[in-house]
Amino acid sequence: MSRTSIAQALKSSDFGSSVTVKGWVRTRRGNKHLSFIALNDGTSINSIQVVADGSRFTEEFLKPVTTGACLCVEGKLVESQGKGQSVEIQAENIRIYGTADPETYPLQKKGHSLEFLREIAHLRPRTNTFGAIFRIRHHMAIAIHRFFHERGFYYVHTPIITGSDAEGAGQMFQVTTLDLDNLKKTPEGKVDFSEDFFGRPTNLTVSGQLEGELAALALGAIYTFGPTFRAENSNTPRHLSEFWMIEPEVAFNEIEENMQLAQDFIQYCVRWALDNCMDDLNFLCQMYDKELIDRLKFVVENDFVRLTYSEGIRILEEAVARGHKFEYRIGWGSDLQSEHERYLVEEHFKKPVILTDYPAEIKAFYMKQNDDGKTVRAMDVLFPKIGEIIGGSEREEDYEKLKKRAEAMGVPEKDIWWYLDTRRFGTAPHSGFGLGFERLLLFVTGMANIRDVIPFPRTPKNAQF
Ligand code: 4AD
Ligand code: MG
Repeated sequence: MSRTSIAQALKSSDFGSSVTVKGWVRTRRGNKHLSFIALNDGTSINSIQVVADGSRFTEEFLKPVTTGACLCVEGKLVESQGKGQSVEIQAENIRIYGTADPETYPLQKKGHSLEFLREIAHLRPRTNTFGAIFRIRHHMAIAIHRFFHERGFYYVHTPIITGSDAEGAGQMFQVTTLDLDNLKKTPEGKVDFSEDFFGRPTNLTVSGQLEGELAALALGAIYTFGPTFRAENSNTPRHLSEFWMIEPEVAFNEIEENMQLAQDFIQYCVRWALDNCMDDLNFLCQMYDKELIDRLKFVVENDFVRLTYSEGIRILEEAVARGHKFEYRIGWGSDLQSEHERYLVEEHFKKPVILTDYPAEIKAFYMKQNDDGKTVRAMDVLFPKIGEIIGGSEREEDYEKLKKRAEAMGVPEKDIWWYLDTRRFGTAPHSGFGLGFERLLLFVTGMANIRDVIPFPRTPKNAQF
């Protein structure tokens, strides 16, 4: 008989019908007369209860049916006598696909710490927590594509291996096929990259933005959604060395439209989670973060506050004057640390905040320069519990200004001549931003550590699995 998913079986009220379900044992309890097996196949946070009658299944047969074992169960769908579920399966036939020796299987029915589960990242998807998180991760990816598709954006694939370090967004990972034990040097004593695979130094990309801009200035509105890599030594609960980023870029949009797009985008994704992932969200809310669902609803229902960096600094300086202690000093010109961002969002405004018009010195060369000669049309979206979730800007469309700024910031023209060309030929005002996918997931799942929202996290000194 064809398999019924456990999610489907749990929704069915076709009592008395025959079903076949397949999945992994979460728990088994009972006695020699009656065994209750909680079976989960990943289609839902909820397991289905399989009842195995002692007259049909001997103790000997059921002995290897322990936490982690994989079963195929045929039986009758019946109304459940127990509390907390509406249906269960009266087993008629059980086939054991695979056993999981309780002596060595690391996941037992008692709860495990998230730290421990990180050490067994190959098995943690089998826990309720990670099942919920990875289902939500999938749903957020779907929501992202739907949001942009519904609005006429095109999905473009930007390269992962790049020949330029133009963005300056972070330290890069070098990609090479050179024999590191036996490097050929040039007469000047430098590594001879003409011998390397691409005949030049190459790296993993930190962002798809520059290529995204090329596409936006042809297709109008585009987005990228791909992996990005940063070799910074930031061991924090919010940084990964490999993370996924969504980068929309829109021709003719100015910063106000860019801000509205960012708000609409995040609200759409969060609403999608509330509409499609409620079982998983309820579980995470109960287990980890009682305010999770209220926080999600709040973000969907309220406009984000918009203010300039300078206004933000004034608020922070006033807080310091009133005696609030920050670890890092704050003043006009300094970059905001996560503690400052969270003060603005969580304590001052109690709402998501979009900060604009940052000092040029602390932002990338491509941001549109304001007339004050000091600030650029940058925008960061700051979120409760997260800090920066989005970074973006209106772009400098003036060829001369952009070229000068790139030079001043040490970005060589020979690396970005192709990018500068867009400003030489049919330049246009345009804007875009980048959303860190895992930061969005931190917010939506309420998890506290970014290592817990990606299946296989890469962080300094950690690339197992
Ligand atoms: O602010 P960032 O560096 O901006 C860019 O890369 C621009 N090219 C985006 C654009 O305008 N198209 O990064 C964008 C977002 C951050 O706001 C943050 O959410 C996330 O990417 N991010 C990280 N997420 C996880 N781990 C890291 N190490 C991250 N660095 C940035
Ligand atoms: Mg940023």
